[in-house]
Amino acid sequence: MGQTLWTAVDAYISEHISGDDPVLGAAVAASNAAGLPALSVAPNQGKLLQLLARCVGARRILEIGTLGGYSTIWLARALPADGHLISLELDARHAEVARSNIERAALSERVQIRLGAALDTLPLLQKELEAPFCFTFIDADKANIPEYFDWAVKLSRPGAMIVVDNVVRKGALIDAHSGDENVVGVRRLHEALANDQRVSATTLQTVGVKGYDGLTLAIVN
Ligand code: SAH
Ligand code: DHB
Ligand code: MG
Repeated sequence: MGQTLWTAVDAYISEHISGDDPVLGAAVAASNAAGLPALSVAPNQGKLLQLLARCVGARRILEIGTLGGYSTIWLARALPADGHLISLELDARHAEVARSNIERAALSERVQIRLGAALDTLPLLQKELEAPFCFTFIDADKANIPEYFDWAVKLSRPGAMIVVDNVVRKGALIDAHSGDENVVGVRRLHEALANDQRVSATTLQTVGVKGYDGLTLAIVN
């Protein structure tokens, strides 16, 4: 039991539940062809993000970490016609591929990609009155996760949901002596959550095509 089985089960789930979607398929193909790293959420995780965004009736969505826009497309499809998604991305090449994928998905009117380090672009969202957001997906560099989470809370409306990807890291989450900055990032997130009265949160371990990892889900009080 292990990765081979997890991958096969994810393939089965995706075939039955997230369906064969030519636009998402083309986004993956274009991202691979452009040499982007294969770090997008799995199809069933993309669908989960979409369902959660619908659950909170999201009209404004914030994403931190666009890559080729795969998760962006799943999330933007949860929006009503007048809804809006802002996705923050550091790498200009990733943003370019994402814009093209989002254009193909006919979502350009609802999606804005902002180039730059998220810690620089997040404060601008507050100033420009783009907030409050109803849903935030945090999926950029892992070292800064606690800072992104803090911004997400500040930029959220009450009842908003915040989802953080890659928080279990093959179980390294419980390694108090880890020198890996990604692990330090997810541990700092959990230490902050233990005392954060602004949110109610949980973390789920996950297995699948992306290995053994986990998601943190929080609702802003
Ligand atoms: N959410 C995407 C995957 C994102 S991969 C999906 O599921 O489809 C992580 C992305 O975060 C990469 O594109 C990387 O360039 C970007 N990133 C890394 N550091 C960043 C930073 N400081 N600010 C904004 N984006 C960053
Ligand atoms: C990494 C980033 C991701 O967003 C992900 O889903 C998996 C791995 C990484 O930077 O290693
Ligand atoms: Mg991720």
